[in-house]
Amino acid sequence: MSISAILSGTGRSVPDRILTNADLEKIVDTSDEWITTRTGIKERRIAAADEALSKFASQAGRRALEAAGVAAEDVGLLVLATVTPDMPIPATACKIQHDLGCVNACAFDLAAGCSGFIYAQSVAKQFLLSGRCEHTLVIGAELLSKYIDWTDRTTCVIFADGAGAVLLSRGRLPRGVLTSAMHSDGSMVDFISIPGGGTLHPPSQEMIDERLHFIRMKGNETFKMAVRCIEEVCREVLDQAELTPDDVDWFIPHQANARIITAVGKRLGMNDDRCYINIDRYGNTSSASIPIALDEVVRDGKIEPGHIVLMAAFGAGLTWAASVARW
Ligand code: ACO
Repeated sequence: MSISAILSGTGRSVPDRILTNADLEKIVDTSDEWITTRTGIKERRIAAADEALSKFASQAGRRALEAAGVAAEDVGLLVLATVTPDMPIPATACKIQHDLGCVNACAFDLAAGCSGFIYAQSVAKQFLLSGRCEHTLVIGAELLSKYIDWTDRTTCVIFADGAGAVLLSRGRLPRGVLTSAMHSDGSMVDFISIPGGGTLHPPSQEMIDERLHFIRMKGNETFKMAVRCIEEVCREVLDQAELTPDDVDWFIPHQANARIITAVGKRLGMNDDRCYINIDRYGNTSSASIPIALDEVVRDGKIEPGHIVLMAAFGAGLTWAASVARW
């Protein structure tokens, strides 16, 4: 039987602090009613001022290793999907490698917006299939709150913090990640961006005065693209795996907006009970949202051996991606 990349362990870690819609009502001109009906979000987790990304990413990674029962030194690759690293240099993945004791792993960060986890999962799978290593640790983590303009009601109610991780291990089909697909379209780079802080607008007082260090999003335009692209890429990976939406036991999408998830589910003919939604408790945690959701489903005992799991995401870049796995 052919070699595959099986999902052998999952973990998650989120900040303790909960920010509710009622809390946001006191900060900006918004309402629980608007946020709930437009996004599905009721509350989100926000890191403390002295907490950096690696704290949560390492914790999620450690929990995935423990769940799989695999020693840190047996990991050959560690990929951190993030757009909010601890610092520009070095890669935060190296800090996590050290925290966890993955001494034999090469480690790097991967930036693909909210699609980052699926991109990273796809890269990790190739490492396993090519025989480079036995285990790869894939972490999706973001502290988007550090880039939120708390006077901008169009973004501050949406983005949040968290980390999730999956250990991928060499196994045998029919289990494992069956297919994946990744797409990018840079003609819409300005749909979701943090314009300042990089080489285009390096850190400076002027850059901060112009508020370029905050996240901005053309929400409505992004919404329409997201629904279409997620549906298309889901059909693409299901076709490749010779499966149909009817075969899917769990649809675990990026949690950008409950309305996007419901709309895609409807287009694919999947009722709500197969579409996993936890955005009400976490908000949009970008590349962390799929591994956080996966960990919840696994630890709640909702996934059984043989289940077909469809994962899909859409985000800054623009990027979109999907994968389908048999548990
Ligand atoms: N509270 C109250 N009113 C608000 C708020 C708020 N928090 N935010 C915006 N509004 C107002 C707007 O000002 C606008 O008012 P107007 O009609 O008087 O001008 C009205 O609500 C409607 O605004 P829209 O932007 O059209 O609202 P929409 O229904 O599109 O919802 C949202 C906005 C939630 C952002 C939605 O567009 C969305 O989810 N977009 C997709 C996000 C996404 O998928 N991102 C990709 C991943 S993120 C990443 O990669 C990091």
